Amino acid sequence: MFDRFKDVIADQLAGLTAADRTTIFESLQTPRQAEHGDFAIAVPRLRLKGNPVQLAKELSEKFQPNDLIASTNSSGPFVNFSINKKALLADVVKTVYVKKKDYGANDSGKGKRVIVEFSSPNIAKPFHAGHLRSTIIGHFICNLYKANGWETISMNYLGDWGKQYGLLAIGFEKFGSEEKLLQDPIKHLFEVYVKINEEIKNDSSIEDQARTYFKRMEDGDEAALALWKHFRDLSIKKYKQTYARLGINFDVYSGESQVTESMQRAMSMLEEAGLVEESEGARLINLETYKCGKALVQKRDGATLYLTRDIGAAIERYEKYEFDRIIYVVASQQDFHLKQLFKILELLELPYADRFMHVNYGLVKGMSTRKGTVVFLEDMLDSTKERMHEVMKQNEEKYQQIEDPEYVADVVSKSAIYIQDFSARRIKDYEFDWDRVFSFEGDTGPYLQYAHSRLCSMERRAPVKLNPNADLSLLVEPVVFDLITLVAQWPDVIKTAMQSLEPSTIVTYALKLSHEIARAWESLWVVNQPQDIAEARLLLYWTVRTTLGNALTILGLEPLERM
Ligand code: ARG
Repeated sequence: MFDRFKDVIADQLAGLTAADRTTIFESLQTPRQAEHGDFAIAVPRLRLKGNPVQLAKELSEKFQPNDLIASTNSSGPFVNFSINKKALLADVVKTVYVKKKDYGANDSGKGKRVIVEFSSPNIAKPFHAGHLRSTIIGHFICNLYKANGWETISMNYLGDWGKQYGLLAIGFEKFGSEEKLLQDPIKHLFEVYVKINEEIKNDSSIEDQARTYFKRMEDGDEAALALWKHFRDLSIKKYKQTYARLGINFDVYSGESQVTESMQRAMSMLEEAGLVEESEGARLINLETYKCGKALVQKRDGATLYLTRDIGAAIERYEKYEFDRIIYVVASQQDFHLKQLFKILELLELPYADRFMHVNYGLVKGMSTRKGTVVFLEDMLDSTKERMHEVMKQNEEKYQQIEDPEYVADVVSKSAIYIQDFSARRIKDYEFDWDRVFSFEGDTGPYLQYAHSRLCSMERRAPVKLNPNADLSLLVEPVVFDLITLVAQWPDVIKTAMQSLEPSTIVTYALKLSHEIARAWESLWVVNQPQDIAEARLLLYWTVRTTLGNALTILGLEPLERM
């Protein structure tokens, strides 16, 4: 949004000095103190001869104000520029009006492809808070990459292979019910899994049975695989339904079971590259020189490992998708695992070894429902929704006015969970706080949704219609320019968020915008105003609301229009 202004500065400064235009353009920054202006340039960066403080003063005096740059001043070695806010206002409103939902997006990633692997739960095991974090952070990263013009492939890499799935099959023979399985495969398989693990304590032969069963699976025994495939298919079907409640769709359901061939190929590649050594019958890669320990790639009994499967998967993914980047959204508990994986890919001298990236995150504590610790995503969503619904009922008068409280409770509760999760940097552990999460005050999800829906409701009730040609020169209050400056920053926020991949940067932005909106509410009215003023203000609010909606959407939330 600011490029037009920066161009004008760069052009004129390049004329006034011997400095390179591009250098000037890239050196323009936001002044530390807002009173100084909208842009500042540190004169030493231009590598001119002379005293920087003196030069700053001279340049600021020589610079000719124009339509876009209203004034200049200097402070120490900095030249500061204040832009013509009216020009910015007109630019921003027009751009948002034209781009709407796409406002802020850019095409810097055009022609590039990223795979984002996220969520990746384990069949028959709990979907814990760590998986939830991976799910929402991963979805955010997909949205962010898309907004930066990348082609994205979302991938779910299920934990669906290993000795424990032999155990599950044995358990199913004993305790399983096809009917229950069809009803809710995820819950039922978990039940079976818990029961058979109990049973092991009484009957130690089960472990051998499980091992034999899994061996049959690994050897490709059709009957053994058919049952396992049945479990897997039904689980995926159910997962899809639950992810849909979060508006998430995976392009690819992969999983540890799907990479057997590639893994064997990877094993030969490792052997050929001379990376593997033998240790008491097992095979390992010594990574101690790289402070990555010793990576076991094959057990003594020949059984495969999580790491080995990941090496195979990585190679297979590249061959299939030729990605420019691949992101693993996995808890920081697996930092070491991924460090080993990436190091091994590098030692294999794969030409694409530098395209791998781990996005990690810390632990969440205390995310349990009244019935106990949450183990299923669905329960987590139902339970927060229920609680949200109760909170809403406490305000009877308002509750009466909500058309579809079930729907509102659902969206607001998701927003509550997301914003709490996204408030701090990913790597931080945090305690899930039910009271804070549902508060409509303070920096919460409900507060953001409230800011958005309140603007929507104002638009619905406004005495005038949205008019893109409204006379913006009637907007003169300082809060207008504070709002519009923030709105103008949105495209840059999307760009810079690519560096840290921190959802918190977007949350901080959305909160700032919402605070500014709350401030504007106090003085900037649309009702009881002359028509031209009402129209101009409505257009401004619409611009701001659209931008806030875009921010919520990137975070993976559906902006609410009524609540
Ligand atoms: N299923 C694993 C777990 O629940 C996460 C998988 C992470 N992705 C990977 N490529 N290793 O811990």
